[in-house]
Amino acid sequence: MALKVTDRYLSQFVSEHEYKGIQPAVTAAHELLSSKTGLGNDFLGWASLPGDYDKEEFARIKAAAERIKKNSEVFIVIGIGGSYLGARAAIEALRSSLYNSMKKDTPEIYFIGNTISPTYLNDVISLVEGRDFSVNIISKSGTTTEPALAFRVFRELLEKKYGADGAKERIFATTDARRGTLKELSDKNGYETFVIPDNVGGRFSVLTAVGLLPIAVAGCDIDAVMNGAKAAMDGLNDPDINKNDCYKYAALRNILYRKGRVVEMLVAYEPSFAMMNEWFKQLYGESEGKDGKGLFPSSAVFSTDLHSLGQFIQDGSNILFETVVQFEKSQKDFYIEKLESNGDGLNFLAEQNMSVVNRKAFEGTVLAHTEGGTPNIVLEAPELNEFELGYMIYFFEKACAISGYMLGVNPFDQPGVESYKKNMFALLGKPGYEDRKAELEARLN
Ligand code: PA5
Repeated sequence: MALKVTDRYLSQFVSEHEYKGIQPAVTAAHELLSSKTGLGNDFLGWASLPGDYDKEEFARIKAAAERIKKNSEVFIVIGIGGSYLGARAAIEALRSSLYNSMKKDTPEIYFIGNTISPTYLNDVISLVEGRDFSVNIISKSGTTTEPALAFRVFRELLEKKYGADGAKERIFATTDARRGTLKELSDKNGYETFVIPDNVGGRFSVLTAVGLLPIAVAGCDIDAVMNGAKAAMDGLNDPDINKNDCYKYAALRNILYRKGRVVEMLVAYEPSFAMMNEWFKQLYGESEGKDGKGLFPSSAVFSTDLHSLGQFIQDGSNILFETVVQFEKSQKDFYIEKLESNGDGLNFLAEQNMSVVNRKAFEGTVLAHTEGGTPNIVLEAPELNEFELGYMIYFFEKACAISGYMLGVNPFDQPGVESYKKNMFALLGKPGYEDRKAELEARLN
């Protein structure tokens, strides 16, 4: 159980006194978080969620997922940012990046409303033609343009196919408990609703109905996910970085940042982790990247990206460090048979599991990259299952909060995301944005 930080590959990059010297900053961040006196302290709901989530709603999520599994061949999940990434990341990590193409007894799941591409929308519309489907619209504010537009289209499709009464049985809205257009629409039309608590921000919401309903529809055990998160919540409280791997990770990445490593690349050797990388990038990018500060979160899947980014990591500008997530046990394995002919010369790989070859790729890479001057933090997890994923989600969330406080920023707001939205609304002629529209058009022309 648990996620352990290996600092074995950091000795040439982080000295003992630097490591000791960061402890007071970690302790101060811990105090801010645990006493709820830090910036953004009205958004700390995620921290206690694994212990005090709404059990009645949790049961309704499981019941809704069972109904969807029975009556739908396709499940459409509409949302963007924090209302999208966690669910998709967990499903791909737990089931497969090839989930939709696999033989399975659960619905295909497509994520829309995370782009304004008409091409993508048309493609998904064609995928539901002639098939039974249900929709989960997820939006905390209930007004975000991308999901609202996609929902308008899919609500129409459902109503045309099943009639208003049939459609309402197939629409599930995850939104604010009281406010917003989506909440009003849901109450008016009788959709089943699930709540994104006021004190849980979008990027910290995967362990609410935001993530849990789609994850359950994909056939994953959401009890185990919550149990894993609870184990992390109970076990990651010691301020001492030698006794708390979550804080140790936050400490190490902060030391490296202070030394000019301004890019963190999250790396895994499993393609199914690619969307977890995306979830991580939002979590850390939106939490830390403000006031002219913050690590730039990037990601890679190895060994795939060793053949594209490997050169830069090995030999390019010294701006980055890697955080490698390694799993002791592979979800599935493949035994490589010895061939008498050995025409391809690959018998040196034979008579062992492919996971061993993958592990050797990791070992060879970590040694090469550190030798080339790129620090590597390694996070070792036993395996990628529901429990461990829940643990990992909480681990990253808490390390993110601590990291933000160490930087002196508010880890729970995202003022920068608003700028593009205001410009887009103005350019599209949304009422109330007239002055901005004139000013922007003058700049464009
Ligand atoms: O983390 C965040 O707050 C954002 O990424 C939001 O989740 C995203 O903008 C979607 O917002 P909403 O759920 O209000 O539609």
